[in-house]
Amino acid sequence: MYLLCTFLVLLSFGDGFHPNCPRRCSCDSKQSIQCYRLIELPSWMPSTIKRLYISHSKIKNLKLSNITKTLALEEFILLASGTESVENDTFKTLSTLKTLELWKNKLRRIPTALPNSLEVLKLNDNLINVLHESDFEGLKKLQVLELQNNMISTLSLSTFSSLVNLQILVLDGNNMESLTGPFKLPRLKHLSMENNKLHFLPGSFFASLQCLQFLSLSGNSLTIVPNDLPKSLLSLKLERNQLQVVRFREMKHLENLSHLFLSANSLSSIEGAHFLPNLTTLEISQNHLQMLPFRLPARLQKLDCSNNLIQKVMLQDFQDLRDLKHLFLDNNMVSLFEVGALQRCVQLSNLALEQNLLLSIPLRLPDTLARLDLKANAIQDIGEQELKDLKQLQVLNLRNNKISALDLKVLEGLPRLRYLYLDGNPWNCTCNLLRARKVLMAKGTDVRGGQCAAPAERRGESWMSSKNIMRHCEGHSHLTEKNKEIRKKPKPDDHPSIRMNMDDDYYDYEID
Ligand SMILES: *[C@@H]1O[C@H](CO)[C@@H](O)[C@H](O)[C@H]1NC(C)=O
Ligand SMILES: *[C@@H]1O[C@H](CO)[C@@H](O)[C@H](O)[C@H]1NC(C)=O
Ligand SMILES: *[C@@H]1O[C@H](CO)[C@@H](O)[C@H](O)[C@H]1NC(C)=O
Ligand SMILES: *[C@@H]1O[C@H](CO)[C@@H](O)[C@H](O)[C@H]1NC(C)=O
Ligand SMILES: *[C@@H]1O[C@H](CO)[C@@H](O)[C@H](O)[C@H]1NC(C)=O
Repeated sequence: MYLLCTFLVLLSFGDGFHPNCPRRCSCDSKQSIQCYRLIELPSWMPSTIKRLYISHSKIKNLKLSNITKTLALEEFILLASGTESVENDTFKTLSTLKTLELWKNKLRRIPTALPNSLEVLKLNDNLINVLHESDFEGLKKLQVLELQNNMISTLSLSTFSSLVNLQILVLDGNNMESLTGPFKLPRLKHLSMENNKLHFLPGSFFASLQCLQFLSLSGNSLTIVPNDLPKSLLSLKLERNQLQVVRFREMKHLENLSHLFLSANSLSSIEGAHFLPNLTTLEISQNHLQMLPFRLPARLQKLDCSNNLIQKVMLQDFQDLRDLKHLFLDNNMVSLFEVGALQRCVQLSNLALEQNLLLSIPLRLPDTLARLDLKANAIQDIGEQELKDLKQLQVLNLRNNKISALDLKVLEGLPRLRYLYLDGNPWNCTCNLLRARKVLMAKGTDVRGGQCAAPAERRGESWMSSKNIMRHCEGHSHLTEKNKEIRKKPKPDDHPSIRMNMDDDYYDYEID
């Protein structure tokens, strides 16, 4: 009996709160119905419904029943339901409809006669290959149009001429090779055409896009930065194209541009970025740069030059960058790092120098650093001088270098150190190293130590946990007294929650 009651209660919940909620749907008090695994649209719905959400159903041909037509629907969402076609004029009478989302279906064209009330139209992830001028006629209130991941290969821009209020247009992941005709979207703020096959944009493409703030053309085949970019731009993405030069002088009207993404192109030098006075983020990784950019904008906060061929880091490169917080120089060929090269970067907290050719830790790094990555260089030792000012340092990665000994004084001078990666180095497991281990444990630093390379009899043993080594060194008279005390305390090394993250040393922990 109890079970039966529970079952009935569950059943009525499954059918929603409304007494007449359609099968496989749930109706909530907020005038919304959600339905799953339908094979046809419900033939009856409470007349107060404003929002109809259907997903993971099988509705090959969409026809709205006559009942639905009488509703004052504001949102109609049908996704992942294998829908191939929509009966002509289906939405015509829904004169209150504001949002229509038909994504992840198999539609080949835009539904006909969309109501003028529409504000949001999402048709992404379908099989639409042509847009007709009539498709968007009269949609003067439309603000968001998403058509990404369809099969549109040519686009006549006059198609969108009715959309005088459009603010967001997404055309990513189509096969667009060319664009023709004038583009008149006076309110457009956000235009994304990533992952298409564009080689160039037509002349005066931007002439009537005078409000554009975000433009992404990443993943195309552009060989030059488009001309006449609108001066309202805040963010410009041109990653994964075929750019060989960027003429910043021709972009100097972009006075508010704050984010510029140029990674994965074929740039061999960057010069004149200072023409963009408000630039705060510049990403130029995966190019062919042999030198750091010459004259960077003074407001820069993040610079990503990773995966290039840069050999030197000199004082002049960073002279004016007082706001710089994040500097990525990893995966280059840096062998020369001038003493104090980053001294003027008085806010630098994150410095990535892994995978370079450094023989030692750069001297006089800014004392604001919280994270320093020197993994996979050719560093042979850690001197007290190099790290002594880094009072804010929380993460230090020295994995895969050539260090064999650790100076106790170095470790004592790093009060906030939380993560230390030392594995992959040829450790000489002396009793001195064991003393360093104790200092680290007492500080509560999370250490990945690695294995001994010397002396021969200890080779392959883990110096952070080997009992053999401990036993050997505790035999040394002067050590014994202190050790007994320390051993009574719980070892941070044994703490399971601290160990969890140790494998992955890349942005998997918070810095505060
Ligand atoms: C619903 O539409 C069908 C034709 O599509 C029609 O035969 C039927 O009378 C309509 N029902 C009502 C209640 O309007
Ligand atoms: C539906 O509309 C399209 C475009 O307006 C038209 O070509 C087609 O013939 C119509 N189909 C039917 C069945 O009316
Ligand atoms: C740049 O931003 C400022 C402040 O938001 C604004 O007043 C100005 O109009 C913008 N300049 C352009 C060219 O859009
Ligand atoms: C951009 O820079 C100019 C001049 O340097 C300044 O007047 C303007 O306010 C800046 N805009 C923003 C958004 O910071
Ligand atoms: C290890 O350290 C000891 C003591 O300092 C030294 O005698 C020995 O040569 C070192 N071994 C290697 C391989 O560096």
